Amino acid sequence: MSFQFLVYEFQRYLEPSLLAENSKLKTQNCVMKIEHIGIATPSINDALAFWRDALGLRVVATEEVAEQGVRVAMLPVGEPRVELLEPTGPASPIAKFLEKRGAGIHHIAVRVDDIRSTLARLKEKGARLIDESPRVGADGCLVAFVHPSAAGGVLLELVEHTSAGDETENDR
Ligand code: CO
Repeated sequence: MSFQFLVYEFQRYLEPSLLAENSKLKTQNCVMKIEHIGIATPSINDALAFWRDALGLRVVATEEVAEQGVRVAMLPVGEPRVELLEPTGPASPIAKFLEKRGAGIHHIAVRVDDIRSTLARLKEKGARLIDESPRVGADGCLVAFVHPSAAGGVLLELVEHTSAGDETENDR
């Protein structure tokens, strides 16, 4: 009998309903990882003085996402990365966030295997969604946002990696 099995049995003894809920989630969605943490800043240049120059992270890419009104700098921390988000204009959602809340964590992105089934499950559980169906984000990824009111004040982004741009087109 393995140690893991004993732990499992013990947990089952303690909290059968919780564990049942857990194993259900596992079969529905095998792997979730922190994909990135979005940090709003009025100036990527200024923010880099800390994240790159003082802390020592490396900038692997910068990108401008015109339709979202942001400039992005990506700095990996292990597999996940910090994404510095700077507004490109006053209409940008990041500009509005900065105005209201100031600089700081804007959203957390979690990578999921199947974004549609994750959205369906959230909807079924009554979680308020910003995007009911996924849209195409950077690198042809599928992304969708969950409303902060559903996640204890955290704006949550779901990300599904797709193998090719072609596939993404067919998927839509
Ligand atoms: Co993001």
